Amino acid sequence: MNTVQQVESLRAALAGLRREGPIAFVPTMGNLHDGHLALVREARRHADSVVVSIFVNPLQFGANEDLDSYPRTLREDQQALEAEGVALLFAPTVEVMYPVPLAQQTRVEVPGISGLYCGASRPGHFAGVATVVCKLFNMVQPDLAVFGKKDFQQLMVIRRMVRDLAMPVQVLGLDTVREADGLAMSSRNQYLLPQEREQAPLLYQTLRETAARISEGERDYEALAAAVCSKLAQAGFRPDYVEIVDSRTLLPPAPDSRHIVILAAAWLGAARLIDNIEISVGSSGEE
Ligand code: PAJ
Repeated sequence: MNTVQQVESLRAALAGLRREGPIAFVPTMGNLHDGHLALVREARRHADSVVVSIFVNPLQFGANEDLDSYPRTLREDQQALEAEGVALLFAPTVEVMYPVPLAQQTRVEVPGISGLYCGASRPGHFAGVATVVCKLFNMVQPDLAVFGKKDFQQLMVIRRMVRDLAMPVQVLGLDTVREADGLAMSSRNQYLLPQEREQAPLLYQTLRETAARISEGERDYEALAAAVCSKLAQAGFRPDYVEIVDSRTLLPPAPDSRHIVILAAAWLGAARLIDNIEISVGSSGEE
């Protein structure tokens, strides 16, 4: 596997790969775990070459967030990607990615959904994500790109950006990869103290219980969401939001909505955990 830092060397390496066939791209912030590697494996199923990027994007971190402490493990990440048969790793510095001061950087704004849920708690976050992903797409020019559904709202923002700006990239979403006890894998899980780590699976467990109640016919979504919040708060989490919404629009479900997602974010100690679960509701329980 070739690791490049500069855009010129990226483009030169890509020219060779492009002759071999379609290219799939997996953008990441590094500190790779099995969730990231599942995206790489999915990418390999769809293309001849897989390109991965590792870039901790300052534009998507708020002033009081964990940009400085975000784990950076390039050596280990390179080994993991090499073992997965990745052709090319793009690991630019901040100066390569943003040669102009950040305040002057052109931004991509996806209106509407970017201001909800995670976007409400983290102002500017999704513009930072959309901007860096747009820029990475322009640099790599992949045929397809793979993202995780763990970041459900992020996947939606990227799909909208690609649609609205007619970007010639096919976007695939992959199911969340979890630890054996159900906790969604995340680089931020390592911020959890041992006792918090034991508590953490309660988030997904509560989402599953709530999904089961919806599947059984419960439709008072506000009451269900409030119950999730209070259960988490009682267990020592600090819920940020719990929303039960239409998974196609991320807005409150209409009476005939058939595709529901429960989105949740909650702090546990120093970690902000996010998770979600999708539910198909049919009028006669089919699907
Ligand atoms: P990062 O958090 O490193 O995640 C990179 C990709 O891995 C994202 O598509 C994310 O949804 C996916 N991912 C993370 N944990 C996962 C899990 N447990 N199962 C499946 N997929 C998982 O998301 C970002 O980086 C950044 O915002 C980025 C898109 C790279 C832009 O900077």
